[in-house]
Amino acid sequence: MKEYIKHNGWKIIEEDFHPEYNKITESLMSLGNGRIGHRANFEERFTGQTLPGNYVAGVYYPDKTRVGWWKNGYPQYFAKVLNAANWIGIDVRIGTETLDLNTAKIISFKRELDMQEGHLTRDFVAELPSGKQIKVSTRRFLSIANSEIGAIRYTLTALNFSDKLTLSPYIDFDISNEDANYDEKFWDEVDAEIKSGEGYIVAEVRKTLFHVCSGMKINLFKNGQPVPFTADIENRPKFIANIIPLTIESGESITIEKFGVSISSENFAKDKLLKTAKKHLAAAFHKGFDQLELEHSQAWLAKWKTSDIVIEGDLAAQQGIRFNIFQLHQTYTGEDERLNIGPKGFTGEKYGGSTYWDTEAFCLPFFLATAPVEVSRNLLKYRHKHLEKAIENGALLGFGEGAALYPMVTMNGEECHNEWEITFEEIHRNGAIAYAIFDYIRYTGDWDYLAPKGFEVLLAISRFWAQRVNWSEQKQQYVLLGVTGPNEYENNVNNNFHTNRIAQWTLAYTLEAISYLKKNHAGIMADLTKKWHFNEQKETTEWKKIIEHIHLPYDEKLNIYLQQDGFLDKALKPTSEIPPKERPLNQNWSWDRILRSPYIKQADTLQSLFLFEDHYDKKTIQRHFDFYEPYTVHESSLSPCIHTILASAIGYEQKAYELYLRTARLDLDDYNNDTADGCHITSMGGTWMAFVKGFGGMRVQSDKVSFAPFIPAKWESYAFRVNFRGATLKINVNKREVCIENLSDQEILITLYDQEARIGASKEIKVPLKHLSNEN
Ligand code: BGC
Repeated sequence: MKEYIKHNGWKIIEEDFHPEYNKITESLMSLGNGRIGHRANFEERFTGQTLPGNYVAGVYYPDKTRVGWWKNGYPQYFAKVLNAANWIGIDVRIGTETLDLNTAKIISFKRELDMQEGHLTRDFVAELPSGKQIKVSTRRFLSIANSEIGAIRYTLTALNFSDKLTLSPYIDFDISNEDANYDEKFWDEVDAEIKSGEGYIVAEVRKTLFHVCSGMKINLFKNGQPVPFTADIENRPKFIANIIPLTIESGESITIEKFGVSISSENFAKDKLLKTAKKHLAAAFHKGFDQLELEHSQAWLAKWKTSDIVIEGDLAAQQGIRFNIFQLHQTYTGEDERLNIGPKGFTGEKYGGSTYWDTEAFCLPFFLATAPVEVSRNLLKYRHKHLEKAIENGALLGFGEGAALYPMVTMNGEECHNEWEITFEEIHRNGAIAYAIFDYIRYTGDWDYLAPKGFEVLLAISRFWAQRVNWSEQKQQYVLLGVTGPNEYENNVNNNFHTNRIAQWTLAYTLEAISYLKKNHAGIMADLTKKWHFNEQKETTEWKKIIEHIHLPYDEKLNIYLQQDGFLDKALKPTSEIPPKERPLNQNWSWDRILRSPYIKQADTLQSLFLFEDHYDKKTIQRHFDFYEPYTVHESSLSPCIHTILASAIGYEQKAYELYLRTARLDLDDYNNDTADGCHITSMGGTWMAFVKGFGGMRVQSDKVSFAPFIPAKWESYAFRVNFRGATLKINVNKREVCIENLSDQEILITLYDQEARIGASKEIKVPLKHLSNEN
């Protein structure tokens, strides 16, 4: 755990340069606008530890897999989100020396990410080996109002010298991925244009043939006044630069503004990409830095208005939750149904920008409650668009008749990971995709999403489950063999409770969907029946049999569901007996030892109890929590959030708070020692859920939103907002009372601590805070 980031409500602050943590800081202070993103790399050259990272949404490369013994059904490639052009770079030369914070003496340093307005700043004073001292202030943002554009203002002041100064803003497309499987380069230059003050490169991705154009346009000022300049040109393959010769007198300041553009052929015609990039950049340049930044920060303020969470009495927690919300917004804006939420977003390469079950299981609820309904609908449509590929994916594994197996990892609907037991066998993901449809409809009331999109996906997934089960003569039950549950520390197990349960649930929910469609959209249902050759009588009879007779491993003595067949054969020692130096297990134990152990990476059986909470009473949830949590190592970032919600539901307030801190500050404090690779973006959706569903006790049942809040002992108060069916609610909780404000102009019926309450437009209700604690 590292604690060098200063606590502050709205800012992420690194005071004094920490070169040893530079890659972590670069991840934490990443910027993104849903279309483009980059790590908080320095503008000037830096020869110390750094992971340069610039990403363009939806642009990937199908890298060759590294599977040792390739077998039928394995994916053909392992997709990489591509590290794209570095457009932020500005080389700085003073006399004959290059500014490099790895070799200069740093006199003062501060790097700050402002989450309220979405910009990154850096202020430092450095001394070059010659003794020349300079002061540098930088400010940059990636516009969320003009999502093709970014801008940098870089000001340099000579403190104790007068000399020649050369500024060289550049675009570098000679970029490779750190995680390339065979150290290959993936970009080829297609076109380039460079002149004084402006330049562009168009590059093509090998195999996928995406085109990306990145460009720059430059402004220069001396002591705040514009100065004309003529730059020399550098133009070599995949690299263009302006070389601007200047002189600087002691006490003088030179400012360079660098406007950047990055667009891809995903959104603009390939043959006009350079022209289009020029147009966007010219418009941005014309608006100017201040106006662009104003539009950008206003767009951020609008986002915060609907999604901010305020905590009083705990600055670290306040910073943590805002950081999670900020990064979620930077990664996904929901305007484009072809895009999704990668586990690392725009903050690193690992797991890239691929889509996992994380989106449905951990991120959807955040967007449902804080963004316009189209945003979550687009997340659902993304999977609907991939239905055909999911059916093909099922066929590759031997399934037929329209059975869909959605990929565990995907860029375009095809499976693209290369670990069989861990990833492919996690067929529970199919259930998460079905559950998301239910979750969306439960939240929004938009049942018509079933006609036809929701139903088509449910039907194909149900067909998969019906074919994937087999009847066990011995058990006289249906079983699901050879799977991996959410707990990836068990592979190829039989009858993982969560997988069997979610399969059973999907079949039941699809039956419900059919009833709804027959009643409300008989015509569409008839068309769908024909289109999908749906033999309702035969297929639903089979599903009903499976629902009734699926094996759910259970131990009578302990009165709990078992994670999988044979779980109790393990040497059941709690995690408290693992020597601290052996944690995390995945960095210290052999895989063999992990697989044999009882240790659970993340909520598995408890994932089901969380999803199907309505089907279990509190005592049952508590029994399962008490049994499984002591074996849980929480080595997935997705683990503590689910446990926080369940701990809250059963009144384990202290435990809930401890687990919550792990998720909220996971990256800020580098809990799992892996933030250098990028931030855990999808787990941030889990953090939001942990807060709102855990502390706030928010649920949706029978078309009503309900709350059952408690407040962690350390906090004075907290407040969050949610949209629900056209109303905006602000939930304020302090140590004495709960106040729910209805900020909208429509009345709403809610449930608060099991009591129904009607809140008129612009009215509020207050009730005393209830004590729900169930701890000794
Ligand atoms: C987790 C998976 C998750 C993946 C991507 C893994 O560590 O165990 O559940 O889908 O990371 O976030």
